[in-house]
Amino acid sequence: MEGETLYLNGEFMPLREGRVDVEDRGFQLGDGVYEVIRIMNGQLVWLAEHLGRLGRSLATIRLSEALQGHRLEDLLPELVDRSTVREGMLYVQVTRGAAPREFVFPRPPHPTVLAFARGCPFPDDAELMAGTVLHPVEDVRWARCDIKSTNLLAAVLAKEEAQEVGAHEALFIGPGGVVREGGSSNVFAVLDGVLRTHPADNRVLAGITRRHVLQIARDLGQACEERAFTVGELTGAGESGCEVFTSSTMKGIRPVVRIGAHAVGDGRPGRVTLAILDLIRREQARLVGHQPPPALASPAPQ
Ligand code: PDD
Repeated sequence: MEGETLYLNGEFMPLREGRVDVEDRGFQLGDGVYEVIRIMNGQLVWLAEHLGRLGRSLATIRLSEALQGHRLEDLLPELVDRSTVREGMLYVQVTRGAAPREFVFPRPPHPTVLAFARGCPFPDDAELMAGTVLHPVEDVRWARCDIKSTNLLAAVLAKEEAQEVGAHEALFIGPGGVVREGGSSNVFAVLDGVLRTHPADNRVLAGITRRHVLQIARDLGQACEERAFTVGELTGAGESGCEVFTSSTMKGIRPVVRIGAHAVGDGRPGRVTLAILDLIRREQARLVGHQPPPALASPAPQ
C-alpha cells in the first residue's frame, strides 16, 4: 500500500522492497519477538511501555544485544513520520537473524530488526456497542506466554476457529475452566462488583492496555483483583450478574456480550466496562492531541 515504509537493519525503504534471508531464524524457528504499537494522530501511543516490554522479551530469549545500534525510541517515531500513516499500527519484530539451520544459537548472532507502519481502521461506536462474541478453546500454548514471541500458531488456529463459528475472538481456557486470555487480548470480568483478570504470570501476556485498565479502574475507586476466574463463574452469574471485556492495543476495550452459546449478563455492554472504555479513550486522545471522543452511554436499566 502507498506510504508503507519499512525500517530494516538500519535502512528505511518502501515496505514492498524489504527482503529477509530464507534462513532467518524468525522464519524457520520462530526465534524472535515482536510488538504492536498503536498509531493515533501520527503518534505512537505508550511507546516507552512497548519498548520496555520488547526489552524484557529480548532479555528472556537472551537476545538483548540485538538492539545495539538501533535507537528505537527515535527510529520508530521517524518511521511513522516518513510513512503517511496517521491512524493505524506499528509492527516491530526482532529475530536472532540468518544462520545455517541449527537449534542452538548462532555465535555471534546477526539479528534482524524490522518495523513498519500500516494504516488500519478502528471500530466505530456502533460496532463497540454491538459487543464481541468469544469462542472458548483449550489453551494448548506453551508455558511462556509472557514472552511476546512470534510463535503464534496456537493463536492462529484458535482465532481461525473462532472466526469460522462466527465469533470475534478466541478465549484460551486452562485446566479447571480457568480463563487465561484471548487469542490476542487480555480478558477482564466484573464479578460480585470486583474487576478481575488473570495474574500477569507465565500463562498470559502482560498487556500494556491491561495495565492501563487496572490503573484507570483503581483511580475510579473500582475494586480490582489480579485473580483468575473460570468460564463457569461467568456463564453461571445470571442476568446482569457479570460483565466481561477484552483489552488490546489495536482493538482497545471490547465489551463481550456472549461466550460460546452463553449470553454474558443481560447480553449488553456493562456499566463498568463502558466507564473504563470511555476513560481509556480520553486518556489516549489527550496523549496525542485529539478531541476527546463523546462518552458511550450506559445501557438504560430495564
Ligand atoms: N496482541 N494477550 C495476547 C496473547 C496478545 O497477543 C495481546 C496483543 C494482548 C494484549 O496486549 P496489549 O494490550 O499490549 O496489546 C494480550 C497484539 C496486539 C497482536 O499480536 O496483534
